[in-house]
Amino acid sequence: MQGVAPRGPDVRSAGLVVALCAALIGCGSGAAAPNRDASSMGTDAASPDAPDAPPADGPESDGAASDAWPADASSLDATTVAPPPGPYPRPTYTRLAETGLLADAEPRRISADALPFEPTYWLWSDGADKRRWLRLPPGTQIDTTVMDHWVFPIGTKLWKEFSLGGVLLETRLIERYGDGPEDYWMGAFVWNAEQTDAVLAPEGQADINGTFHDAPAQKDCLACHRGEAGRVLGFSALQLSRPADAARVGPTIADLVRQGLLTAPPDGGAATAFSVPGDPAAAAALGYLHANCGHCHNRSGTAWPDAQMVLRLETDETDVTSSALYRSLVGQPLQYWRGGAITQRIVAGDPDASAIVARMSARGDKDQMPPLATEKTDPTGIAKVRAWIASLPSAGAP
Ligand code: HEC
Ligand code: HEC
Repeated sequence: MQGVAPRGPDVRSAGLVVALCAALIGCGSGAAAPNRDASSMGTDAASPDAPDAPPADGPESDGAASDAWPADASSLDATTVAPPPGPYPRPTYTRLAETGLLADAEPRRISADALPFEPTYWLWSDGADKRRWLRLPPGTQIDTTVMDHWVFPIGTKLWKEFSLGGVLLETRLIERYGDGPEDYWMGAFVWNAEQTDAVLAPEGQADINGTFHDAPAQKDCLACHRGEAGRVLGFSALQLSRPADAARVGPTIADLVRQGLLTAPPDGGAATAFSVPGDPAAAAALGYLHANCGHCHNRSGTAWPDAQMVLRLETDETDVTSSALYRSLVGQPLQYWRGGAITQRIVAGDPDASAIVARMSARGDKDQMPPLATEKTDPTGIAKVRAWIASLPSAGAP
């Protein structure tokens, strides 16, 4: 489609990837070292959460090779523009073009200093394709003193682009502009039908470009993102821990350590990855809940006043049954919801009697979970959670 971000052919050669990268979208410096087959970026639906299972290739696979990550941090310095001197201004953006994501509008190219990344576990967005980028101010590091709550330097920008069937819908931005707890600019820029421009939608926008996709209002970003003090949900220690050869865009935590971008590497650099606890079936379910529910269901999340239930994992939780997630779910009575015959959050061995499954399976009413930003259930996600619950030994079992 004309004007849509380049979606190249099914590119399998790393050399070609770099060439495409430079020629089409300028997605990194010449030192770019793609760490995966560029054709393997799938849709939410096609993107399984198990790090070792590559997303299915398909016509929507993004051949834009936007997965380049500089081989070393110095290339960040070479390509970034320093923030203006003096106090960092509070952004007043009205168009995506002002935010620095795009190097050129026509043909559209992503700025070289906007570095693509992908969390291991995705938020379900009704099957939309997503691309994400991070821009750190030159010469800065991410403060990782508290490993589960990274603090990004002032001037950091993160973008997330949503598209469906190749049609651009909206691109969201988070920008840290000050050291106060609320000094984060957040908003969604909605793409026009011609796919030439994206304009801020402070109140959000429903049914963008003939699809069912809605962009959230600026105030609604916080419903989810306030659950993390540093606002960033997908660029985290747990979400970037995966084998280097996992089919994902952008850096792993090991890459970040190697590039000197973390103030406090895990275990002083000895350990280079964390993992979601459990066998593959348990890890798939726990990772799914962490990514899709954990931002509201944690001690700082917006759901906590109603239900003291933890759906978030911490990097030091290495055992399923002792995790806060397991302990606040399995065999635990509902606190807020009146679910008719359903009285517990999870009944071991019985998905149909578990409120977690019931509320994931609801849509279009007050029962649906998540309560916003989705209109369709996620069959793959529900299947993972059901399989894990079914595998738990029931209370009466020997
Ligand atoms: C329903 C919860 C929810 C809402 C509402 C929401 N987000 Fe997010 N957002 C997430 C989650 C979870 C992630 C990380 C997982 C992913 O990207 O798949 C994320 C990722 C992002 C990212 C990439 C950086 C990061 O945090 O990983 C940006 C940028 C972003 N969101 C911006 C916004 C903006 C701006 C709004 C409001 C217009 C918004 N989001 C509304 C849940 C939400
Ligand atoms: C945007 C924030 C948000 C997200 C994301 C979210 N929830 Fe909730 N959840 C809430 C709020 C608020 C409540 C309390 C009100 C209610 O029950 O509707 C709640 C309540 C619940 C309850 C009832 C708990 C009890 O003890 O009464 C369950 C079960 C639940 N959520 C499951 C989930 C699951 C599973 C996900 C992810 C697939 C999820 N939620 C994602 C905000 C959220």
